[in-house]
Amino acid sequence: MNTADTDPGSGYGGFPAVRPRRLRGTPAMRRMVAEHRVHPADLILPAFVREGISEPVPVAAMPGVVQHTRDTLRKAAVEAVAAGVSGIMLFGVPEEKDAIGSQGTDPDGILQRALRDVRAEVGDELVIMSDLCLDEYTDHGHCGVLDAQGRVDNDATLLRYAEMARVQADAGAHVLGASGMMDGQIGHARAALDEAGHQDVSLFAYTAKYTSAFYGPFREAVGSSLKGDRKTYQQDPPNAREALRELALDLAEGADMVMVKPGLPYLDILREIAERADVPVGVYQISGEYAMLEAAAEKGWVERERAILETLTSFKRAGASMILTYWATEAAALLQHDSR
Ligand code: PBG
Repeated sequence: MNTADTDPGSGYGGFPAVRPRRLRGTPAMRRMVAEHRVHPADLILPAFVREGISEPVPVAAMPGVVQHTRDTLRKAAVEAVAAGVSGIMLFGVPEEKDAIGSQGTDPDGILQRALRDVRAEVGDELVIMSDLCLDEYTDHGHCGVLDAQGRVDNDATLLRYAEMARVQADAGAHVLGASGMMDGQIGHARAALDEAGHQDVSLFAYTAKYTSAFYGPFREAVGSSLKGDRKTYQQDPPNAREALRELALDLAEGADMVMVKPGLPYLDILREIAERADVPVGVYQISGEYAMLEAAAEKGWVERERAILETLTSFKRAGASMILTYWATEAAALLQHDSR
């Protein structure tokens, strides 16, 4: 440290010789010395596609977000490409839900159809990702299948995920987002993909996924009927070391990319994982984070666009290279002429 050792009062006339403000004086200067910047290519757009609707359905708790029809989803994918967004993460909302989430493994299920649509529309111009989890498809709303006592059965769920992985890859997904927090899900999905000849399909592990109050609006977005909570499989908020254990497991099982979720309340976890992982690290700015900021902006209590970009910047500063955000397309456009 050199400047820190300097006597701050040692300048001419007893005023500071060292002045950090010099580097903050103009937009050009601030742009030049910025340590981190968000680029449209960092952004991934999560999107919902619902079966059996002819018009998009707004998600009340997420102003600006809709459940897409197959048609409007294709358009959203094209817009994302035009804005420079690099990926899309698809969630399917089926008409029929049941105990084992049958629609999640039906080759003609809504997510699989949407994957084929988007792949046909934008090809390889977007990284097309799909949610590898059962909660959108089960009538009880859990991320897995239940045993006789009504508990989420880890290993029976792995078998369902293996089948889901195959049908999603068959439908054209480039990347599968394993979000269910079952032990062994990455290894199991990897084996299923390889056995089916999908060696090139990547696995994005939701490595540190915490049980969170901020998932609320997502449950509306996927029409979830979850009664209880996910505390027996998602991580407990007080635990940080546990995230490193999950990281070691996911990497050993073959995860190609890892994620921390939610975003803002877990920046410390993001930093720790980013320092240790030797694969790309992503963060998911989730539905409740979106809802919170939109609500405050609507009341005029925060400056909307500035606040959005500030949150995205915080993820880059904490070490993420990919950011899943419902603002992806809009933010990418804002970033084209971000002056600061
Ligand atoms: C699980 C899944 C969830 C989200 C992404 N994948 C819901 C959950 O774990 O309860 C939440 C995303 C968000 O809140 O924006 N399929």
